[in-house]
Amino acid sequence: MKLVKYAFAEAKKHQYTLPMEQAIHPRSIVILDFGGQYAHLIARRVRQCGVYSEILPPETPASLLSNAAGIILSGGPQSVYDEGSPQADPKMLELGIPVLGLCYGLHWMTHVLGGKVQPGSVKEYGRAKITMLDGGGALLKDCGDSCIMWMSHGDEAVELPEGFHVTATSEDCAHAAFENADKKLFALQFHPEVTHSEHGFDVLKRFVDVCHAAEWSIESYTSHVSSQIRHEVGDRSVFMLVSGGVDSTVAFTLLNQVLGHDRVVGLMIDTGLMRKNEISLMQQAFEKLGITNLHVEDASEEFFANLKNMYEPEQKRKIIGDTFLAVQKRVADQMKISMDDDWMLGQGTIYPDTIETGGTKHADKIKTHHNRVPAIQKMIEEGRVIEPLKELYKDEVRTLGEELGLPHELVWRHPFPGPGLGVRILCTKGELRSKNDELRIDIPHQVLPIQSVGVQGDGRTYRHAVVLYGNDETLYRDLATTIPNRNKELNRVLMCLSHSSSEPFVVTPGYLTRERADLLREADVLVDEEMRAADLYQKIWQFPVVLLPVGLKLGGQSIVLRPIESQEAMTATALPLPASVLKKMTERLLALDGIDAVFLDLTSKPPATIEWE
Ligand code: XMP
Repeated sequence: MKLVKYAFAEAKKHQYTLPMEQAIHPRSIVILDFGGQYAHLIARRVRQCGVYSEILPPETPASLLSNAAGIILSGGPQSVYDEGSPQADPKMLELGIPVLGLCYGLHWMTHVLGGKVQPGSVKEYGRAKITMLDGGGALLKDCGDSCIMWMSHGDEAVELPEGFHVTATSEDCAHAAFENADKKLFALQFHPEVTHSEHGFDVLKRFVDVCHAAEWSIESYTSHVSSQIRHEVGDRSVFMLVSGGVDSTVAFTLLNQVLGHDRVVGLMIDTGLMRKNEISLMQQAFEKLGITNLHVEDASEEFFANLKNMYEPEQKRKIIGDTFLAVQKRVADQMKISMDDDWMLGQGTIYPDTIETGGTKHADKIKTHHNRVPAIQKMIEEGRVIEPLKELYKDEVRTLGEELGLPHELVWRHPFPGPGLGVRILCTKGELRSKNDELRIDIPHQVLPIQSVGVQGDGRTYRHAVVLYGNDETLYRDLATTIPNRNKELNRVLMCLSHSSSEPFVVTPGYLTRERADLLREADVLVDEEMRAADLYQKIWQFPVVLLPVGLKLGGQSIVLRPIESQEAMTATALPLPASVLKKMTERLLALDGIDAVFLDLTSKPPATIEWE
């Protein structure tokens, strides 16, 4: 708390000295995102080295990069010679700033500096043994004579640009690492950012040491972002929707502390899709911090009315986002707040939200985040939105929240999606049969006649879930990987916790109604209670409880338990729970009126997602 106060004071002193128009923090390590999911990992690892990192699109002009302490060119799925493949500004290589090219970044650097890249005779994926040459040069000198690094590439550099020499080689890639230390240009064919790379972190750390970048810590971030908030907001005030999730709670608290209570107004809209007791918990936490500028509006009737008969996930998200905006506008008008020159809209968007929705040009769109629906996008372009957490990862938001004085239990709550139970109540207008119901496995199973969202090969899928009967959970966890790999109709594998043999499930058309939300709220509380009673809360990243419109008779429904293990929600695995806990949860869930069956989702992300939708 003290440190943050100090940071605020520091920020005040420097409030107009930061080059905001460039959106580049002075002396940060810039990661140019060539696509795929690598940029986030690199940015996280660089921050773990204690220095500032930020992700920018590859086409960022060199003139804007001159403030950077170092540049990392991320990997990406394409080939540099492909038409439309991402390109960066070659002038950055003449700035005298250290540059590290990884995988695609290595190919691009080689290509523009006059070397030659071509498809390798063997494509390398996964673990590869690299052998150091010339002592490993500046980056690999502490990695021993050889070590295991993670490779994922088809192309390779076959001729090095002038002035470079090889520092590591692998069986299938002669030029696994090379550098021009005089010019501080480095290139690695492998991915030091992934944890499977032995010494990967040490290698990044060596590069970071060469850069002399600005310190990264929550305190330094708070200082930076406080200046930014003051600069962006200017004389205006901020109106903010507080969803009940950790992100908007922390953002609201931060804005209150930076701008003062009289320049911030919070609105919590009761959508009817929140968890039980969520609103009163929030109110209590804010009151303890002296924050009383939060208005609560019950708009649940309006949400359910707008969502009537809707079942398509993206449409549900859009309606929830648009209704949020409409209610916000109406309440704002009543409160005489107009989004004109005097006011801005605050949002708790965090870093991964901006990237997964195509925040950088080459990140594929998986789904539209509610903070990025078109109406909000337009306001962002007009400079009417302030998002003070948009550079932070989840764990950093939590640390900041605690620093700001929010209760530990509140900020370390599991992530909960902004559209709330709206994404956990699966909707359908009727039965959707899979074309291929028969799996060639010797286990009793049933393909459910509904579909849910998944993510495969960086793209979005709508596929069926298959339910396996029996209790060989270890085997079923393996099948959860192999079945979706082999069957294009499936993206999830469930184990039935309530029934030991296959009884045909029937679908009842189901939409987002108050009745279904109330039922899921009860199921959710009960799972939460059992999880806490078994002392599992801290071990679980997130535990969505999902309501499916399938049951053993018309009108019956079922519950999916989805305990998740994850680092940053980009990838995730299904976390095993003790059988006794699952049994207790199942018994209590089956006692709820209208719940016919209980399933456990065993699928990783990919091929599934954490939520169902
Ligand atoms: P998926 O389902 O895509 O979820 O694997 C990844 C993470 O994002 C959360 N999530 C959201 N969070 N607004 C949010 O604030 C949203 O619209 C949203 N959708 C998904 C999800 O709970 C998980 O942590």
